[in-house]
Amino acid sequence: MEKFIVHGPCRLSGKVNISGAKNAALAILPATLLVDGKSHLENVPDISDIRAYLKILESLGSKITYISKNEFIVDNSNISSAIASYELTSKFRASYYLLGSLLGKFEDVQISLPGGCNLGARPIDQHIKAFEKLGATVDVLRGNVYAKRTSKLKGTSIFFDVVSVGATINAILAAVLAEGVTVIENPAKEPHVVDLANFLNSVGGKVKGAGTDVIKITGVDKLKQLSSYSVIPDQIEAGTFMVAAVATRGDITINNCIPKHMEPITAKLIEAGATIEEGESSIRVTMDKKPIAINVKTMPYPGFPTDMQPQICTLATISEGTSMIIENIWESRFQYTDELAKMGASISAHSSTAIVKGVDNLYGSPVKCHDLRAGASMIIAGLVADGETEVYEIQHILRGYENIVEKFNGLGANIEYITDTREECKIWCVYTLYTVLVQAIYFV
Ligand code: UD1
Repeated sequence: MEKFIVHGPCRLSGKVNISGAKNAALAILPATLLVDGKSHLENVPDISDIRAYLKILESLGSKITYISKNEFIVDNSNISSAIASYELTSKFRASYYLLGSLLGKFEDVQISLPGGCNLGARPIDQHIKAFEKLGATVDVLRGNVYAKRTSKLKGTSIFFDVVSVGATINAILAAVLAEGVTVIENPAKEPHVVDLANFLNSVGGKVKGAGTDVIKITGVDKLKQLSSYSVIPDQIEAGTFMVAAVATRGDITINNCIPKHMEPITAKLIEAGATIEEGESSIRVTMDKKPIAINVKTMPYPGFPTDMQPQICTLATISEGTSMIIENIWESRFQYTDELAKMGASISAHSSTAIVKGVDNLYGSPVKCHDLRAGASMIIAGLVADGETEVYEIQHILRGYENIVEKFNGLGANIEYITDTREECKIWCVYTLYTVLVQAIYFV
């Protein structure tokens, strides 16, 4: 079984480079289906969610040519199918962007209901509402979503009842080749929504207002890429390293990030006592004392991101005083607190609120990852804890963090990545040694 062993405690110091944003790349990859011919993408993170998406695209007829592991050309000239297989799409959330992008190209689209992190109910009613307003019919039957149109989608006005990143992205994808103008009100303003709009505009789309309260999309006949497009840096990966620096009372410089995107996280870490220096595309985080308790409420961007909630909660476990963390986006996002409790944390989590009483130390223990960001918080906890923390179910972490072990170890951490083969090799070595010893004793 794969696992990480985090040898704590440690103090992080040095420099780390942030990879391309997972959630931006997961929106841009399906957007390439709308482009006539080839799309050349750079700064795409090499993580299992992206590899899975590329497999889906290949199953539809895309040809991927790698220039490096983070740069490739997607040629969608020969897309032959608008039916994505259950095995490939059911495993993760962002597969539902195929609905919006394939509807732009095809009249009949079928994907299975998306999977992804278990964060509570994950409805898609706002996505369906957007497609229906654009003129499609949508049916959800036996775990599949069927979307159909009999003519081109038509520009319309869409008002979202809740702020949804996924529904905003799907509506943009479906509207970009529609006839006429689509106006989206109450959209998500996350950096990856803006990055998708920038990509679409770079290939000839007309998407205005992404990142504001109203997005206006003027449909165009076709999209064609002229130059390569580089995905923005990952806000959540950068935030994870920022919190880890504060938790370990370290001094790290985070390169290749966008300080503006980090503001909600930066503000909370300053409240916790950290010193933050912003460069043009870097942030230095230093901390030389015990962090102070803080209160955090997760909100859509530009609020504090729900995807940073487990990491900041982990910081609260070793802070001076009592912190209150309120989760406003996902109903079941505190499951990981049981794992932190195994390490000595004092957390009382009910419904959407966690009350965290800071303790002097955490201690190493076997823990499991409940989801991607909870997994990252187990590593942070392991870095500050006394002794060894064995982190299980790390497939969640590998979905979204590129080279996480190498990056933390480059900052002075001591994390071992135990793969199946290494474990098997250990068993084989012990067995061989045992056999040799027994034989030696016998002959002596
Ligand atoms: C995206 C991110 C995820 C992040 C989340 C919130 C990707 C691949 N994933 O997820 O990492 O945690 O944004 O920032 O980008 N909702 C509805 N109806 C809908 C859609 C959503 O009620 O049709 C609700 C959800 O239950 C949730 C809230 O809206 O309470 C936000 O969900 P949404 O922004 O859609 O999250 P995702 O796009 O799935």
